[in-house]
Amino acid sequence: MKRILVTGATGNIGLEVVHYLNVLNSDSEIIAAVRDIADAKLKFPDAVNLQFRQFDFENPDTFSAAFHLVDVLFLLRPPQISEVDRFFRPLLLAAKANGIRNVVFLSVQGAEKSKVIPHNKIENLIQQLEFNYIFVRPSYFMQNLTTTLLPEIVKQKSITLPSGKAKFNWIDVKNIGEVTAYLILNFGKYQNRSFEITGTENKNFAEVVDLMSEITGETISFQSINPIRFYFKKRKEGIASGFAAVMTILHFLPRFQKEPDISDNFQKLTGKKPTSIREFIAREKEKLTGIQQ
Ligand SMILES: NC(=O)c1ccc[n+]([C@@H]2O[C@H](COP(=O)([O-])OP(=O)(O)OC[C@H]3O[C@@H](n4cnc5c(N)ncnc54)[C@H](OP(=O)(O)O)[C@@H]3O)[C@@H](O)[C@H]2O)c1
Repeated sequence: MKRILVTGATGNIGLEVVHYLNVLNSDSEIIAAVRDIADAKLKFPDAVNLQFRQFDFENPDTFSAAFHLVDVLFLLRPPQISEVDRFFRPLLLAAKANGIRNVVFLSVQGAEKSKVIPHNKIENLIQQLEFNYIFVRPSYFMQNLTTTLLPEIVKQKSITLPSGKAKFNWIDVKNIGEVTAYLILNFGKYQNRSFEITGTENKNFAEVVDLMSEITGETISFQSINPIRFYFKKRKEGIASGFAAVMTILHFLPRFQKEPDISDNFQKLTGKKPTSIREFIAREKEKLTGIQQ
């Protein structure tokens, strides 16, 4: 029996990883590493066999107990934590000291090419510390439409970003959760490799709002603004400076890069087709129109 510890279990990716570990797994023990156990339990009403351990990325005193007798650590970087030496080095050293050898890290597409992003530094650190690893490198989440971009979509029927005509590759977080769970459960077969996980479509925001308008029946528009204006707009909306900066860079830089690569890893590993943008919008129509909060 394997013991699998899932960090970020209550977030977009973590919820899906836990869901698919439960669906695909027969004999591993699945443990959610969470800040607030009582609160986290409410998010998993049906996962009867799921266990919980207290864990805080920002509190090294929680590491040892959380990492006790774990075979595979699923690690992600919460969006607000960027300082790798301050937070991830002690965490990974504690994992090592507690005997963890296998790490699956949720990275991002292109992390190996971009020296400035934390995911690149975390990948390097995992390798330097000689863990067996799998790096999952997904493209742009479709769920950005139903999370960070949703308030403006619902209230103003618009999306404002500094992305111009840049094309993004769109992937469903459910697809990422499914393939990640598969890789965790088959760690030995795929270890020490990296997997880009993408959908099959590269589309810019003007194309995506057109599809949204067609499927929802509402007129949703897209406006591209300059990155400095965008950053201050987000700050004015109350978004923390670090996250506003990440949102600006994430949506502005692709204007100067080539179109994202499209990978068939999802299909190869799961035997399924990834969700199309059209399917995603149809599935999430009630959220996107504000009917479902
Ligand atoms: N958005 C995209 O298009 C995209 C694309 C590729 C890669 N990514 C990467 O995906 C990652 C974000 O994943 P996500 O969307 O699943 O994030 P998310 O929904 O914001 O979830 C973050 C998770 O981390 C937990 N967490 C936050 N701070 C913590 C702390 N101090 N101690 C313990 N747990 C803590 C949260 O728990 P609580 O419930 O306690 O808050 C939550 O479970 C980032 O590294 C991002 O760069 C994003």
